[in-house]
This record gives sequence, structure tokens and C-alpha cells, in this order.
Amino acid sequence: MIEVEDAVKTFTVRRRTGRLRRERTERRAVDGVSFTVAPGEFVGYLGPNGAGKSTTIKMLTGILTPTSGRVRVAGLEPARHRTALARRIGVVFGQRTTLWWDLPLRDSLTLIRHLYRVEAGAHRTRLAELTALLELGPFLDTPVRQLSLGQRMRGDLAAALLHDPELLVLDEPTIGLDVVSKATVRGFLERLNAERGTTVLLTTHDLGDIERLCDRVLIIDHGRLAYDGGLARLRATVDADRVLVVDLARPGPPVTPPASVPGVVVERVAGPRQWLRLPRSANAAAVVAAIAEHHEVVDISLGEADIEEVLAGLYRGDRPYEPAAGRPAGGPAT
Ligand SMILES: Nc1ncnc2c1ncn2[C@@H]1O[C@H](COP(=O)(O)OP(=O)(O)OP(=O)(O)O)[C@@H](O)[C@H]1O
Ligand SMILES: [Mg+2]
Repeated sequence: MIEVEDAVKTFTVRRRTGRLRRERTERRAVDGVSFTVAPGEFVGYLGPNGAGKSTTIKMLTGILTPTSGRVRVAGLEPARHRTALARRIGVVFGQRTTLWWDLPLRDSLTLIRHLYRVEAGAHRTRLAELTALLELGPFLDTPVRQLSLGQRMRGDLAAALLHDPELLVLDEPTIGLDVVSKATVRGFLERLNAERGTTVLLTTHDLGDIERLCDRVLIIDHGRLAYDGGLARLRATVDADRVLVVDLARPGPPVTPPASVPGVVVERVAGPRQWLRLPRSANAAAVVAAIAEHHEVVDISLGEADIEEVLAGLYRGDRPYEPAAGRPAGGPAT
């Protein structure tokens, strides 16, 4: 569905350096990125601010032409075949709307039907389906300017999907949404992918989106791909700590972690409950056994590494990057 091969996008930035002098510098927003996405995949495209995510998406949707490299979406070259591509893909930018501000949502969707030349019968069926799934009913006849952000986003999703595209590209679709709206959007995307087989590429800073939806994540940093794989392997790759919560029978001072398992620290004590941080490689059972020798243990639970911490460490460059699959080792970009 998507093929990106060594894609580069450079912007020329002009900067005033004196009254008349201007300096031109080149900024490589995307610096040699390669990946493919197969039909039916749900892929998260992550990275810190300014990493090159939106620039990549603009190349995939034909808004920007790559400076070099090769980009294909549904077999088409996006910048050259924008119109043909528009019939095959749907795009939602969370930060702006494709709907007509002054028109009721329903009229915007009718206009979009004409733009995409969707046949009237097919449109009716599809609109009824999307109205039910996205719960658009209560505000179909409200002007877009009066919609809340969450309602507008659901309207935008409907607009992007009216022509039943094979690929949906989303740039921060849950930005600014409350928890209930987020859940509606996530549930909808999940079903779209599972039941209709629509391929989804999702850019987000919301880790809930990623954990709930993405089978695979691509991480871009400084314009380079830093990771390509599943979340479980990402956690393992960066060797993020796990947290062991121990409930003792009685409150007391911090327990002494066993000397035989290095790197374990007691992070917090609240009454009989204590939190211990463990390196991923540490044997949790040995830690529990050692504590149970000296204390009465009532309950234990072991938490996976928080994906937020994993990513923060990766973005800061705390730990070495694993080169993305099929790519030569580049090391962290600086
Ligand atoms: N039109 C442009 N002209 C010059 N520089 C640009 C342009 N568009 C983007 N850039 C620069 O390219 C880099 C990547 O920007 P991009 O918008 O792709 O980042 P992003 O990963 O989407 O970030 P965010 O998470 O903040 O949305 C940034 O340094 C940005 O300033
Ligand atoms: Mg962006």
C-alpha cells in the first residue's frame, strides 16, 4: 500500500543576517527514510516535535514532492497523480478541517460526494453507516462552525471515508479531544481496520492511541527512521525498567532488595505498599522470594515498562537506537 525508499525532503530556509544580507540554509526535514506498509496494517508513525512526521505524510499524500528518493502509495506516485490518488486514500489532519465552515455537516458531506463522484445510492448507504458508527446523527444539520472539536473531528473522519478509500492517513486525529471523544474515534478506527480491512497510517503524540491501535510503530527522529517494529520489542529493545508493587502484611521501612539481583531500588513506600524499580533483565521472581524471606508478602504485581518512558528515553537519546529493520546502522542522528 505504501512504499517509501530513501525519501529525502529538504527545505531551503532564508534567514536575515543583516540589513540586506540573507543567508540560505538547507534543512533536511526527512533524511533518507525507507519503509513499506502492507494492505490491512495499522501503523503508528511516531517521533518528537519537528522529527519529520507531517512532512512524510505530505509526501505520501502528494502535497509535497520528495527532494530525492521514491514514494509510492497504492502504486501511484503521489505528487504526480494527486487526483487519482485522492480517490484511493483518505486524509485527516487533526489541526485543520476539510469541511465548509458555514455549511451544515450534511451539506459538506454532500459536496464531498460530488468532488469524489460517489454515486448517490452508494453515498446514502455509506453516509448512514458512518453516521451510525461515528454517532453523527445529533449534529448532521448543525453548521460546522458550531461543532465542538470532537464532533468536528468525527465529521472530518466521515468526510475522509465517504469514498471508501483503501488507505486512511491521519495526522494527530485525537489532538485536543476529551477522553470520551478519543474513545469513540479509537473504537471507530479499530473497527474500520478490522472489519473493512482499511490500511491506516496514524501520526500521534497520544500513547493511548498507539497502545490501543497500532500493531507496528515506526519512529522517526531528526528525519531518520529510528525504529520499525512492534511495541513489545520496542520495550525490550530499550531495556526499560519494570515496576514491582509489593503489598506487605504490615507497614514498615523500605525493604532491602537482594544483593544477588543488581539494579533494584525501592522507589516509593505508602503504608504496607512498596514500589520497586527493576531493570527489565532482572529476575522478578528472585526479588520477590528474597523479600518474602524477611517479610510477610500479601500481594504482588509486576507492571510493564510505561511506553511513555520508553519513548521519552528514546527521543532523548538515552539509549542506543536499534537500526530500523533492513536499514544499515546509522546511529542516533544529531
Ligand atoms: N514548509 C517548510 N519550510 C521550512 N521548514 C519546514 C517546513 N515544513 C516543515 N519544516 C521543518 O521540517 C522539520 C520537520 O517538520 P514536521 O512538520 O515534518 O515535523 P513533525 O514531526 O510533524 O512535528 P510535530 O510533532 O511538531 O507535528 C521541522 O524542523 C520543521 O521546522
Ligand atoms: Mg506534525
